[in-house]
Amino acid sequence: MMSLKNKKILLVIGGGISAYKALDLIRLFKKNDVDVKTILTKSGKEFVTPLSITTLTKNKTFEDIFDKNTEAEIDHIALSRWADLIIVLPTTANFMTKLSIGKAEDLATTVLLASDKEILLVPAMNVRMWFHKATQQNLKILQDYGYLFIGPEKGEMACGEYGEGKMSSPRQIFSYLKNYFDQKNLVKNKNFKALVTTGPTKEYLDPVRYISNESSGKQGYEVALALKKLGIKTKLIAGPSNLIYSKNLKIKKVTSAKEMMYEVKKSLPVDIAVCAAAVSDFKPINKSKNKIKKDASKFNNISLEKNPDILDYLSKNNKARPKIVVGFSAETENVIQNSKKKIKEKYCDLIIANDVSKKDSGFNSDYNKVSIIDKKGKVKSIPKNKKSYIANIIANIILVKLLMNDKNIN
Ligand code: PMT
Repeated sequence: MMSLKNKKILLVIGGGISAYKALDLIRLFKKNDVDVKTILTKSGKEFVTPLSITTLTKNKTFEDIFDKNTEAEIDHIALSRWADLIIVLPTTANFMTKLSIGKAEDLATTVLLASDKEILLVPAMNVRMWFHKATQQNLKILQDYGYLFIGPEKGEMACGEYGEGKMSSPRQIFSYLKNYFDQKNLVKNKNFKALVTTGPTKEYLDPVRYISNESSGKQGYEVALALKKLGIKTKLIAGPSNLIYSKNLKIKKVTSAKEMMYEVKKSLPVDIAVCAAAVSDFKPINKSKNKIKKDASKFNNISLEKNPDILDYLSKNNKARPKIVVGFSAETENVIQNSKKKIKEKYCDLIIANDVSKKDSGFNSDYNKVSIIDKKGKVKSIPKNKKSYIANIIANIILVKLLMNDKNIN
């Protein structure tokens, strides 16, 4: 396992009594050969001084967005590009609000808004502030934007109250970072590959009419993005959708189940397969070359046949079975019970069960509410949240499973 040696950390010091702990964290970083640059916010300066920070980091402390002395030396974009990771410590309730609405009012918020790096927030505030609906709502928004969080912990706070709101200690933050970089490094070295199916399929009866469903492709797309963010080489095989896909993701667009199956087969071998597509179960046996006339008797008698089952093919593939096969299960009743049956029938490692009977989650919504079920029947339910948030949880569970699997094999 590697350490944090030579990593570059940009530390944004916020305005809270716990700001003084930034100095202990910097000391820990320097002892472990981590390069640290800092941005001191205006309110952070009420608690720690630029001189004490610079003495420890041996680097200049950045303060003002319009600093004539430093803008030529390093601008706000370059500061973020330089870093391997950005930390905001302490993250106050007020700072969370600014981030959740995308404010860029000073150097710190501008750097964060313009950043393409992962950002770790370390909240510290009074317990009532933390549990206030506004803060909890901001937490959800920020998690959805992809911010990472450590803490807050339970304990006695500076104001004398007890509860959740105490900032994680420098040691806890340091060990979180060690795990974070170790995992990134491990994934990079393993060169894991994943394929994800998403969206509906269209099965044409004639050149203009087809059988399909309401799937937008969002949930699978978000899972693909989340896997990629973990450093896994990911290919998305997507049925017809209006989504605008990120240029950074490898995507193959398909129309029918037959094409989807063809692309899946072409993408093997992979370590992970996630089948989020709502593949049409049936297709017309014959597709008419020309548009079928309205009065044609053919419409009274459309013959259908079963489409190939892609998930089934993957999980029962003796020669090239992905190490982790994940299915989705769309149900409108007895969701858990029916999905537990499906995990056995389809022989997959995990099944993500979603209730698709409601309009505000599941098909064609930005939200979903899922239960993650494993082969032993253990159920982890995730309350309704953005599909991106749910995708991150699923991707992390898959990665942990894969790493454990690899450890057992090696
Ligand atoms: O696309 P969105 O609008 O974001 O909506 C997301 C979703 C609701 C479509 C998604 O979360 C979901 O549930 N996808 C699976 C839908 C589905 O077809 O479920 P199922 O229970 O019918 O199928 C079970 C599994 O078998 C699925 O993993 C499916 O991809 C797979 N399957 C099914 C049939 C088939 N011919 N081939 C398959 O691979």
